[in-house]
Amino acid sequence: MASTRSERLARLRDRRPRICPSLLDCDFGRLADEISDAARCGADVVHWDVMDGRFCPNFTYGPVLVRSLRGQTDLLFDVHLMMEKPDRYLDDFLSAGADVVSIHLEAVDRPTPLLRKIREAGALAGLAINPPTDVRAILPWLDDVDVVLVMSVMPGFGGQKFDLGALSKVKFIKELGRNVWVEIDGGINPGTIGSAVQAGASLFVVGSAFYNADNRIEVFGELVRQLV
Ligand code: DX5
Ligand code: ZN
Repeated sequence: MASTRSERLARLRDRRPRICPSLLDCDFGRLADEISDAARCGADVVHWDVMDGRFCPNFTYGPVLVRSLRGQTDLLFDVHLMMEKPDRYLDDFLSAGADVVSIHLEAVDRPTPLLRKIREAGALAGLAINPPTDVRAILPWLDDVDVVLVMSVMPGFGGQKFDLGALSKVKFIKELGRNVWVEIDGGINPGTIGSAVQAGASLFVVGSAFYNADNRIEVFGELVRQLV
Protein backbone atom coordinates (compact mmCIF):
# COMPACT_ATOMS: atom_id res chain seq x y z
CA MET A 1 0.00 0.00 0.00
CA ALA A 2 2.83 2.37 0.80
CA SER A 3 3.24 4.94 -1.93
CA THR A 4 5.60 7.84 -2.26
CA ARG A 5 4.59 11.47 -2.63
CA SER A 6 5.92 11.60 -6.18
CA GLU A 7 3.94 8.47 -7.10
CA ARG A 8 0.76 10.02 -5.69
CA LEU A 9 1.36 13.38 -7.34
CA ALA A 10 2.15 11.71 -10.67
CA ARG A 11 -1.54 10.82 -10.87
CA LEU A 12 -2.35 14.51 -11.22
CA ARG A 13 -0.35 14.75 -14.45
CA ASP A 14 -3.54 13.80 -16.30
CA ARG A 15 -4.99 17.19 -15.23
CA ARG A 16 -8.35 15.43 -14.96
CA PRO A 17 -10.90 17.26 -12.72
CA ARG A 18 -11.42 15.52 -9.39
CA ILE A 19 -13.81 15.22 -6.50
CA CYS A 20 -11.93 15.60 -3.20
CA PRO A 21 -13.99 14.22 -0.28
CA SER A 22 -13.36 16.41 2.74
CA LEU A 23 -12.58 14.85 6.13
CA LEU A 24 -14.74 17.14 8.19
CA ASP A 25 -18.25 15.68 8.42
CA CYS A 26 -17.03 12.06 8.44
CA ASP A 27 -16.95 9.59 11.35
CA PHE A 28 -13.55 10.21 12.99
CA GLY A 29 -14.06 7.10 15.10
CA ARG A 30 -13.69 5.12 11.87
CA LEU A 31 -11.42 7.46 9.94
CA ALA A 32 -9.45 4.77 8.12
CA ASP A 33 -12.71 3.19 6.94
CA GLU A 34 -14.08 6.59 5.92
CA ILE A 35 -11.00 7.20 3.78
CA SER A 36 -11.28 3.71 2.29
CA ASP A 37 -14.92 4.45 1.51
CA ALA A 38 -13.89 7.53 -0.44
CA ALA A 39 -11.51 5.33 -2.45
CA ARG A 40 -14.24 2.68 -2.91
CA CYS A 41 -16.47 5.37 -4.42
CA GLY A 42 -13.75 6.41 -6.85
CA ALA A 43 -11.82 9.20 -5.15
CA ASP A 44 -8.03 9.36 -5.49
CA VAL A 45 -7.71 12.48 -3.31
CA VAL A 46 -8.97 13.22 0.20
CA HIS A 47 -9.11 16.75 1.57
CA TRP A 48 -8.02 17.35 5.17
CA ASP A 49 -9.66 20.41 6.74
CA VAL A 50 -7.20 21.53 9.40
CA MET A 51 -8.60 24.20 11.71
CA ASP A 52 -6.88 25.77 14.71
CA GLY A 53 -9.88 27.41 16.39
CA ARG A 54 -8.28 30.82 15.88
CA PHE A 55 -8.24 31.41 12.13
CA CYS A 56 -11.78 30.06 12.07
CA PRO A 57 -14.34 29.18 14.77
CA ASN A 58 -13.69 25.44 14.80
CA PHE A 59 -10.90 23.09 15.86
CA THR A 60 -10.29 19.83 14.04
CA TYR A 61 -6.95 18.01 13.98
CA GLY A 62 -3.21 18.31 13.52
CA PRO A 63 -0.36 16.56 11.71
CA VAL A 64 -0.36 13.56 14.05
CA LEU A 65 -3.69 12.42 12.60
CA VAL A 66 -2.49 12.87 9.03
CA ARG A 67 0.65 10.88 9.86
CA SER A 68 -1.35 8.07 11.44
CA LEU A 69 -3.38 7.58 8.27
CA ARG A 70 -0.57 8.04 5.76
CA GLY A 71 0.53 4.42 5.78
CA GLN A 72 -3.05 3.15 5.54
CA THR A 73 -3.95 4.54 2.13
CA ASP A 74 -2.30 5.66 -1.07
CA LEU A 75 -4.89 8.35 -1.68
CA LEU A 76 -3.40 11.77 -2.31
CA PHE A 77 -3.61 13.96 0.81
CA ASP A 78 -4.77 17.49 0.02
CA VAL A 79 -4.22 19.41 3.26
CA HIS A 80 -6.06 22.70 3.79
CA LEU A 81 -4.53 24.74 6.61
CA MET A 82 -7.19 27.01 8.03
CA MET A 83 -4.85 28.28 10.71
CA GLU A 84 -2.96 31.32 11.89
CA LYS A 85 0.84 31.18 11.51
CA PRO A 86 0.81 28.03 9.31
CA ASP A 87 4.64 28.18 9.17
CA ARG A 88 4.70 26.76 12.70
CA TYR A 89 3.38 23.40 11.54
CA LEU A 90 4.32 23.27 7.86
CA ASP A 91 7.26 20.89 8.39
CA ASP A 92 5.09 18.62 10.52
CA PHE A 93 2.35 18.36 7.88
CA LEU A 94 4.89 17.80 5.13
CA SER A 95 6.69 15.07 7.07
CA ALA A 96 3.30 13.57 8.00
CA GLY A 97 2.70 12.89 4.30
CA ALA A 98 0.72 15.82 2.93
CA ASP A 99 0.92 15.90 -0.87
CA VAL A 100 -0.75 19.26 -1.41
CA VAL A 101 -0.62 21.94 1.29
CA SER A 102 -2.76 25.06 1.00
CA ILE A 103 -2.24 28.07 3.25
CA HIS A 104 -4.61 31.00 3.55
CA LEU A 105 -3.54 34.35 2.13
CA GLU A 106 -5.44 35.95 5.02
CA ALA A 107 -3.16 34.19 7.52
CA VAL A 108 0.25 35.35 6.22
CA ASP A 109 1.85 38.66 5.18
CA ARG A 110 4.14 37.10 2.57
CA PRO A 111 3.19 33.59 1.40
CA THR A 112 6.28 33.15 -0.80
CA PRO A 113 8.64 31.57 1.78
CA LEU A 114 5.98 29.07 2.88
CA LEU A 115 4.93 28.23 -0.67
CA ARG A 116 8.56 27.63 -1.63
CA LYS A 117 9.11 25.43 1.42
CA ILE A 118 6.12 23.30 0.39
CA ARG A 119 7.49 22.93 -3.13
CA GLU A 120 11.01 22.20 -1.89
CA ALA A 121 9.53 19.25 -0.02
CA GLY A 122 8.18 17.95 -3.33
CA ALA A 123 4.55 18.77 -2.50
CA LEU A 124 2.18 21.06 -4.40
CA ALA A 125 1.75 24.54 -2.94
CA GLY A 126 -1.72 25.99 -2.59
CA LEU A 127 -2.99 29.46 -1.76
CA ALA A 128 -6.50 29.72 -0.35
CA ILE A 129 -8.77 32.77 -0.25
CA ASN A 130 -11.92 33.37 1.77
CA PRO A 131 -15.15 34.78 0.34
CA PRO A 132 -14.46 38.39 1.42
CA THR A 133 -10.96 38.40 -0.13
CA ASP A 134 -10.58 40.03 -3.54
CA VAL A 135 -9.33 37.42 -6.00
CA ARG A 136 -6.76 39.90 -7.40
CA ALA A 137 -4.91 39.62 -4.08
CA ILE A 138 -3.41 36.32 -5.29
CA LEU A 139 -1.79 37.87 -8.38
CA PRO A 140 1.63 38.72 -6.83
CA TRP A 141 2.10 35.12 -5.64
CA LEU A 142 1.05 33.03 -8.63
CA ASP A 143 4.61 32.07 -9.67
CA ASP A 144 4.90 30.08 -6.43
CA VAL A 145 1.49 28.43 -6.55
CA ASP A 146 0.29 25.10 -7.97
CA VAL A 147 -3.27 25.30 -6.58
CA VAL A 148 -5.57 28.25 -5.88
CA LEU A 149 -8.24 27.22 -3.37
CA VAL A 150 -11.33 29.39 -3.63
CA MET A 151 -13.55 29.15 -0.57
CA SER A 152 -17.25 29.15 -1.39
CA VAL A 153 -18.14 29.26 2.31
CA MET A 154 -16.49 30.88 5.31
CA PRO A 155 -14.04 28.42 6.89
CA GLY A 156 -15.21 26.46 9.90
CA PHE A 157 -18.00 24.06 9.18
CA GLY A 158 -19.40 21.70 6.61
CA GLY A 159 -22.97 21.89 5.40
CA GLN A 160 -22.97 25.62 4.69
CA LYS A 161 -24.69 27.28 1.71
CA PHE A 162 -22.67 27.68 -1.49
CA ASP A 163 -21.58 31.30 -2.00
CA LEU A 164 -22.15 32.11 -5.68
CA GLY A 165 -19.57 34.90 -5.43
CA ALA A 166 -16.90 32.20 -5.64
CA LEU A 167 -17.78 31.52 -9.28
CA SER A 168 -16.49 34.83 -10.64
CA LYS A 169 -13.23 34.26 -8.75
CA VAL A 170 -12.85 30.78 -10.26
CA LYS A 171 -13.52 32.23 -13.72
CA PHE A 172 -11.03 35.06 -13.17
CA ILE A 173 -8.27 32.63 -12.17
CA LYS A 174 -9.07 30.24 -15.02
CA GLU A 175 -8.92 33.08 -17.53
CA LEU A 176 -5.42 33.99 -16.39
CA GLY A 177 -4.37 30.86 -18.26
CA ARG A 178 -1.80 29.90 -15.62
CA ASN A 179 -0.79 26.30 -14.99
CA VAL A 180 -2.63 26.09 -11.68
CA TRP A 181 -5.38 23.84 -10.34
CA VAL A 182 -8.44 25.87 -9.35
CA GLU A 183 -9.98 24.21 -6.32
CA ILE A 184 -13.36 25.14 -4.87
CA ASP A 185 -14.31 24.32 -1.31
CA GLY A 186 -17.63 24.63 0.41
CA GLY A 187 -21.24 23.87 -0.38
CA ILE A 188 -20.40 21.67 -3.36
CA ASN A 189 -23.12 19.10 -4.11
CA PRO A 190 -24.91 17.72 -7.17
CA GLY A 191 -26.93 20.95 -7.35
CA THR A 192 -24.00 23.37 -7.26
CA ILE A 193 -21.08 21.52 -8.87
CA GLY A 194 -22.26 22.23 -12.41
CA SER A 195 -21.82 25.99 -12.00
CA ALA A 196 -18.36 25.45 -10.54
CA VAL A 197 -17.38 23.24 -13.49
CA GLN A 198 -18.67 25.88 -15.91
CA ALA A 199 -16.67 28.57 -14.11
CA GLY A 200 -13.48 26.53 -14.61
CA ALA A 201 -12.76 24.77 -11.33
CA SER A 202 -10.86 21.47 -11.51
CA LEU A 203 -10.69 20.24 -7.89
CA PHE A 204 -13.99 20.03 -6.02
CA VAL A 205 -13.99 19.64 -2.26
CA VAL A 206 -17.11 17.82 -1.13
CA GLY A 207 -17.77 17.22 2.56
CA SER A 208 -21.31 16.83 3.81
CA ALA A 209 -22.86 16.05 0.41
CA PHE A 210 -20.68 12.94 0.27
CA TYR A 211 -20.16 11.80 3.86
CA ASN A 212 -23.74 12.50 4.92
CA ALA A 213 -25.22 10.87 1.84
CA ASP A 214 -27.47 7.81 2.23
CA ASN A 215 -25.81 6.31 -0.84
CA ARG A 216 -22.28 7.66 -1.15
CA ILE A 217 -21.34 5.84 -4.32
CA GLU A 218 -24.48 7.16 -6.03
CA VAL A 219 -23.76 10.77 -5.00
CA PHE A 220 -20.10 10.42 -5.99
CA GLY A 221 -21.23 9.15 -9.40
CA GLU A 222 -23.64 12.08 -9.77
CA LEU A 223 -20.83 14.51 -9.01
CA VAL A 224 -18.37 12.84 -11.39
CA ARG A 225 -20.90 12.80 -14.22
CA GLN A 226 -21.05 16.61 -14.03
CA LEU A 227 -17.28 16.99 -14.38
CA VAL A 228 -17.24 16.43 -18.13
C1 DX5 B 1 -15.07 24.83 5.55
C2 DX5 B 1 -14.62 23.50 5.06
C3 DX5 B 1 -15.75 22.92 4.26
C4 DX5 B 1 -15.54 21.51 3.85
C5 DX5 B 1 -16.57 21.14 2.82
O1 DX5 B 1 -14.30 25.20 6.57
O2 DX5 B 1 -13.45 23.63 4.27
O3 DX5 B 1 -15.92 23.73 3.13
O4 DX5 B 1 -14.30 21.33 3.32
O5 DX5 B 1 -17.76 21.01 3.51
P1 DX5 B 1 -19.16 20.97 2.72
O6 DX5 B 1 -18.92 20.25 1.44
O7 DX5 B 1 -20.08 20.26 3.65
O8 DX5 B 1 -19.51 22.41 2.50
ZN1 ZN C 1 -11.17 22.75 2.98
